[in-house]
Amino acid sequence: MKFTRAEALKGTVTVPGDKSISHRSIMFGALAEGTTRVTNFLQGADCLSTIQCFRKLGIRIENTPEEIRIYGKGLHGLLAPSGGLDTGNSGTTTRLICGILAGQDFQTELNGDASIQSRPMRRIMDPLSQMGAKIESLRGNDCAPLRIQGTKLHGIHYHSKVASAQVKSCILLAGLYADGPVSVTEPSLSRNHSEILLRHFGASVSGEGTTVIIQPEPKLLAQEIQVPGDISSAAYFIAAGLLVPGSEILIRNVGINPTRDGLLKVCKEMGADITLLQEDYRSGEPVADLLVRHSSLHGVTVEGALIPTLIDELPVVAALACFAQGKTVIRDAQELKVKESNRIDVMTENLRAMGARITATEDGMIIEGGAPLHGAVIDSHLDHRIAMTFAVTALGAEGETTIKDADCVRISYPEFYKELERLCGA
Ligand code: S3P
Repeated sequence: MKFTRAEALKGTVTVPGDKSISHRSIMFGALAEGTTRVTNFLQGADCLSTIQCFRKLGIRIENTPEEIRIYGKGLHGLLAPSGGLDTGNSGTTTRLICGILAGQDFQTELNGDASIQSRPMRRIMDPLSQMGAKIESLRGNDCAPLRIQGTKLHGIHYHSKVASAQVKSCILLAGLYADGPVSVTEPSLSRNHSEILLRHFGASVSGEGTTVIIQPEPKLLAQEIQVPGDISSAAYFIAAGLLVPGSEILIRNVGINPTRDGLLKVCKEMGADITLLQEDYRSGEPVADLLVRHSSLHGVTVEGALIPTLIDELPVVAALACFAQGKTVIRDAQELKVKESNRIDVMTENLRAMGARITATEDGMIIEGGAPLHGAVIDSHLDHRIAMTFAVTALGAEGETTIKDADCVRISYPEFYKELERLCGA
């Protein structure tokens, strides 16, 4: 797919539902008693993988244009699937479902695409094994395919080495089936959507600092959920608005949970003109409209506890840094290496191809902003966030940019190019 420099972007866009919350609404709905209804569900390939997995586990799920209906069967209502589960490209599906499967009285095998088969699973295998589950990597490389023999689980207190909501949520879900309380401490706080939504469904979840505790065997009750717009999808329009001169974009109904809003903090520090309007709540999550205007940006340092709050937006931060004056340093972000692609290497290779002055480091990137960018051939490495980041970067570059395998955006934002084109006035 080809992209060229844009004139000012103008208009309003409503981004699709949050990916993390959409996944969780299916999972928790399946384990609840009664019919859960979900509006503004993200119809991206990752969330559809979650639906398919739970259908195979015996849950009836209706996907209509208005809403998703999940006919929950309670904590102990899942059935052994015939054949293995396919989690596609979705790390969230893979890791969270393992926590649930660990507490069942049957065995499951699960696998995903080539990217999933290279993502680290030891981080969930260790805590689940400590709780008593039998979970094995079938190729012995700590990656999928995985086999999980469910069992009665024990309560634990787990210190996670990584700040990862996928790890935390996996353990909390296993905690639903444990014989005592389960707690997780992370080095810094990762997104807390599981905690908020589990409480909504009736679970007893408490937390202090970076520790969260769940009590076992709650009765989860069906809910009506309105999924807020995904700030990770809004990120591309925020970046486009900031970097293309003359732009002014209103992005409606964006989730601004403080464990997810690191991009807004970093952009503000870079000098961005972003105004929050219509602040409100949807299913316990804060939302707002974001008014974004073109701004002159300057370099910043992004590090520490902020990193988990913008982990999926770091490719966009690296791209924005190319348009900012001065140096931007991203550190403490080694997790970028084990996302859908190695996002440190892939961002460095592709931004360099466009003329950026960027160096990869062990745990991030250093960018000297201000060098004019030119079009290039970009390899998305089938990573949706890389494809979207470069579609936007190309709007501020001289000449033509070609993105390979651009259709991988179907993972999280199938309508992305259509919406971007509309804002560009094409
Ligand atoms: C997610 C958590 C993050 C994020 C991913 C979605 C989730 O991963 O990168 O896109 O829904 O819990 P980690 O928590 O493993 O960093």
